[in-house]
Amino acid sequence: MSMKKFAPTLVAAAVATVLFGCQAQATKQESAAASKAAPAKAMAMAKKGPAPLAPLGNVPVPPDNKITAAKVELGKILFFDPRIGGDASTGCSTCHEPDQGWAWAEDFSRGYPGTVHWRNSQTVVNSGYYPRQFWAGSASSNEKQAKSAAKGGVAGNGESDIMEARLALIPEYRKRFKDVYGREWPLISDVWGAISAFERTLNTTGKFTTPIDEYLKGDKAALSAEQLRGKAVFEGKGGCINCHNGEQASDLDFHNIGIPPNKRWEEDGLAQITFRFEQYAKGQTQEGYRTAKSDWGFYYRGKNKWDKGKFRTAPLRYTAYTAPYMHNGVFYTLEEVVDFYDRGGFDEEGRTTLFPETKSKLIKPLGLSDQEKEDLVAFLGAFSGPEVTVAKPEMPDYAPLFTKAELKAAQEAK
Ligand code: HEC
Ligand code: HEC
Repeated sequence: MSMKKFAPTLVAAAVATVLFGCQAQATKQESAAASKAAPAKAMAMAKKGPAPLAPLGNVPVPPDNKITAAKVELGKILFFDPRIGGDASTGCSTCHEPDQGWAWAEDFSRGYPGTVHWRNSQTVVNSGYYPRQFWAGSASSNEKQAKSAAKGGVAGNGESDIMEARLALIPEYRKRFKDVYGREWPLISDVWGAISAFERTLNTTGKFTTPIDEYLKGDKAALSAEQLRGKAVFEGKGGCINCHNGEQASDLDFHNIGIPPNKRWEEDGLAQITFRFEQYAKGQTQEGYRTAKSDWGFYYRGKNKWDKGKFRTAPLRYTAYTAPYMHNGVFYTLEEVVDFYDRGGFDEEGRTTLFPETKSKLIKPLGLSDQEKEDLVAFLGAFSGPEVTVAKPEMPDYAPLFTKAELKAAQEAK
């Protein structure tokens, strides 16, 4: 073979190697075969499929917010304390009820008194793993999330100075903050850190592990025969693995899967008020503000029209406890969710997203049999283990900074 004839093959092989460095371990025969094919075809052949499901590892901990037992205990009390909020009625646990999946079991979350939320309350279980929190990814850590939740108009509606003043008048908090942070007075910024440390301990590892994690770690008996068949549908005909993959059963990316608007935005006055308020708060355009009829999701982040109706791929762990489902809670059971996907992203009335132009090409009719649907639902059950429970803490009491006697003594000393 002359050098001239051989050259194009070498070039193609080099291109393939540059483009697909990760495939470098491929055998010589494979790369030779790929190099003979046209570049586009070689590209398709070398393209990696979605990441396989993987067991949940240890929760990541930011270096500037180490987890200690004392900090977690403080964070836990604060998480349950309604005084971290506006009128001292609505704290984190008010909308993230441990016995409602650490979420709220209605389509829309309850809101700050006088409002209803416009989105479904997410579970805080496993939230420590997500680099982008909320349905549309607007917070990059538990710390930032907690602050915006406690202060947000339809959530905690708290005011920092008032919340700080309350903590200062609760001796037990003064002591606990001093122990953990070494400062004389509690600081509101430390509240977010302590709550985050507590949230990171609410995860499905250890005694709260799930059947899918045990299976992926090697216990082949952890899944039932039905769940194993469901796993095959999940990874094959159902195509779920395209987005629900890797360690979180989520690519942690944003997609429009066709969720129709929740009718409550049109039928319920309070929901409508929140809906308008949120459009405004999220910097909607004038025209969008007037015409929006559904949640624009990831669009609010970068204001790109191709992001309309996209939401973060929901991680699937703990979903046995967190109905209803989706950003606006339109589905009450996992059976309904599976039917929705089977129809190609349409609910039982034939409704779908108001942004068909951004709907994912991966969502299409699946043609699943009744048996396959049942198996898939059973497999979704494998993402949940025992309920995550903690002993609810006692709320510490207020006490005046000085007793009457101390005040009198101070005055007399003048
Ligand atoms: C009035 C109800 C309400 C209150 C109070 C509230 N939340 Fe939430 N929480 C929600 C809703 C609803 C969402 C989803 C909102 C969205 O995506 O826009 C959410 C989302 C979250 C998430 C994101 C989870 C994920 O998967 O990304 C975390 C974490 C969280 N809340 C923690 C907290 C903490 C901590 C507090 C207290 C400081 C708190 N919440 C107070 C209703 C509430
Ligand atoms: C194109 C990516 C994609 C594919 C494919 C996909 N999903 Fe999803 N899934 C998402 C997104 C995005 C959400 C959140 C959507 C929203 O709230 O608007 C979601 C939400 C869910 C939820 C709700 C979880 C919760 O906490 O509310 C379940 C359950 C689910 N998907 C299961 C499946 C199953 C089963 C399949 C396969 C039949 C599948 N998904 C295929 C992206 C995908």
